[in-house]
Amino acid sequence: MIQKKSVKVHRLCVVGAGHVGLVAAACFAELGHKVICVDNNRKRINSLRKEIMPFYEPEMEALVKKNLKRGTLIFSASLDGAIKESDVIFAAVGTPPLDDGSADLTSVENVARAVARNLDGYKLVVSKSTVPVQTGQRAKETIHRYRKNNAEFDVASNPEFLREGKAIYDFFYPDRIVIGVETKRAETILKEIYTTIDAPVVVTDINTAELIKHASNSFLATKISFINAVSRVCDLAGADVGKVALAMGLDKRIGKEFLNAGTGYGGFCFPKDLEAFIYISKKLGYDFRLLKEVQNINDGQRRYFVEKIKEHLWILKGKKIAVLGLSFKPDTDDMRFAPSITIIDILLKGGAKLSLYDPQAKGEAEEIFKEKRVKFVKNPYEAVKRADCVCFLTEWQEFKDLNFKRIKRAMAYPLVADGRNMFDKEELHGLGFEYIGMGR
Ligand code: UDX
Repeated sequence: MIQKKSVKVHRLCVVGAGHVGLVAAACFAELGHKVICVDNNRKRINSLRKEIMPFYEPEMEALVKKNLKRGTLIFSASLDGAIKESDVIFAAVGTPPLDDGSADLTSVENVARAVARNLDGYKLVVSKSTVPVQTGQRAKETIHRYRKNNAEFDVASNPEFLREGKAIYDFFYPDRIVIGVETKRAETILKEIYTTIDAPVVVTDINTAELIKHASNSFLATKISFINAVSRVCDLAGADVGKVALAMGLDKRIGKEFLNAGTGYGGFCFPKDLEAFIYISKKLGYDFRLLKEVQNINDGQRRYFVEKIKEHLWILKGKKIAVLGLSFKPDTDDMRFAPSITIIDILLKGGAKLSLYDPQAKGEAEEIFKEKRVKFVKNPYEAVKRADCVCFLTEWQEFKDLNFKRIKRAMAYPLVADGRNMFDKEELHGLGFEYIGMGR
């Protein structure tokens, strides 16, 4: 994709073929490195070998196919084999939340132990997963404890800032590359790996690199909750949060990104990372109350959205509601912590009859709602037939292109509940719709 400078080819192993791992493996291969992507899910590895992607991410399939063909990328289910063949091991394994809010680091420890078993010469072990501060230190101790010889190694942290749906673009055009290292040797290798990418490189110690990831995600979530709180005041005061955000964002110190009010953030990163940051801060001795409030505001947005619908429809029981957009954001089929899950739950508890549609997330959603009384339909127009309200929960382009005259004709009562502030309120009023936005 970008080949301005010549590449010193490294033999890389990426452990984990999830969102972070698979994208990183395909992109490293595209940069010219020899990459083995390994995962203990054999079914996933076999499918990938047949060029079948485990999830939807724009441009990924083409990149995987291209690099499989040119031999820069291979998939394997053998962790030990892959580590033996590689000089640099990137851990991109899952760190799911435990009940107490801490991150489950079992998979990170497994990678460290596998490296220790297969250490036969210098290897660099890099964490790409989002891990609590001091995890690198623990990984280093683990390798020391279990290694069979005195072969040298380094550990490093290279946190990933990829957004789902834009992950390939973010990999090649990042705002910054963060490298947490303890030795010059590790720093040089990581810089060589990324040499063709044009971005500022922040070199730091490992603890700091780990903290940068949590601090960045938590700050972005804080921005979203801040504007959502402002949107509540806007509703009360009769002001327009869209304009407030626009004017605020023009101040360079604030910046215009992540100021869209709505039903709040979802996805696997923000909710999980916030929880983990609160937990680790507490463990270290700091009560991060600001972030707890960020979570409260976010949870509240889902309930508030349904309250607004109830205000219009009066009684939810027996009302038909079309829910368009189920994934936590557009261009992904990911449903993890999606606002739609909570909103659908509250609507069902109120007795509403729901018909659901999403351009990509139907498979995931069917699994999540399999016990619930919901109906999946093939397109938005079918969903809105005789509906008393249509909710938009994800700002897919497909919805922006809808024919609203046709929608109005099909509905029993023309009420649009816009959970993402994605439509022009005046235009919809002009077409005869009632409109619910968030803070406008
Ligand atoms: C995020 C970070 O952006 C990325 O750097 C990190 O590596 C992983 O977590 P992602 O979860 O893919 O990426 O989604 P992102 O595009 O950041 O959106 C997160 C959530 O916030 C979505 O639910 C989105 O709808 C919501 N959001 C975003 C808002 O509600 N308002 C906004 O203004 C922006």
